[in-house]
Amino acid sequence: MTQDELKQAVAQAAADYVAANVPAGSIIGVGTGSTANFFIDAIAPLKDKYKGAVASSEATKKRLEGHGFPVLDLNDVDSIPVYVDGADEIDGGLNMIKGGGGALTREKIVAAVAQTFVCICDASKRVEVMGKFPLPVEVIPMARAHVARELAKLGGTPVLREGFVTDNGNLILDVKGLAITDPKGLEAQINQITGVVTNGLFAVRPANVLLLGTAEGVKTIV
Ligand code: A5P
Repeated sequence: MTQDELKQAVAQAAADYVAANVPAGSIIGVGTGSTANFFIDAIAPLKDKYKGAVASSEATKKRLEGHGFPVLDLNDVDSIPVYVDGADEIDGGLNMIKGGGGALTREKIVAAVAQTFVCICDASKRVEVMGKFPLPVEVIPMARAHVARELAKLGGTPVLREGFVTDNGNLILDVKGLAITDPKGLEAQINQITGVVTNGLFAVRPANVLLLGTAEGVKTIV
């Protein structure tokens, strides 16, 4: 199976999970990225069953609306039973690195509201220790150099994502060379740096369910 076929298989499994577990009339949280895009396509047939979706990026909003799926403002929503999104890396504790597509802050906000986070990944994303994938950190533009110096003190090598501006008007520093043995501690430590909006570690709020696309089929890990 190709990587895209694995992504498509987990996306369909996530749509089936939503259809089976999320009551009609609910609002679904929807992530960002190529795997999330397959998920959006897979839930399109459910658009009349649910009240709508909250999108974690402008790109996701556009794709949902392209399918006629209503997109709601998070501030108008009290509860999101399930949030479905991909990851760049995920470890055995279902901690994740996210933000390869630069949507980490909105993803983290929607995930914070959701009762259940369902992560959808192909098998290449599953790692023992995170950090091979550079950790994205969203920063306020005027704090870029200060934050980069502070990140270097933590042992990483921050690299500005050239020509990229987030949906929130900020910059991304991708931090290379970290071996993340304490994801929760590092997430909190980086978020304490003045000028950081948030970082791409999802450990304080990890996934609850992982649907992992493998050559042997989709595995459900909780
Ligand atoms: C978007 O900002 C990211 O967090 C994505 O969820 C993550 O990068 C996974 O993307 P793919 O499904 O495209 O690999």
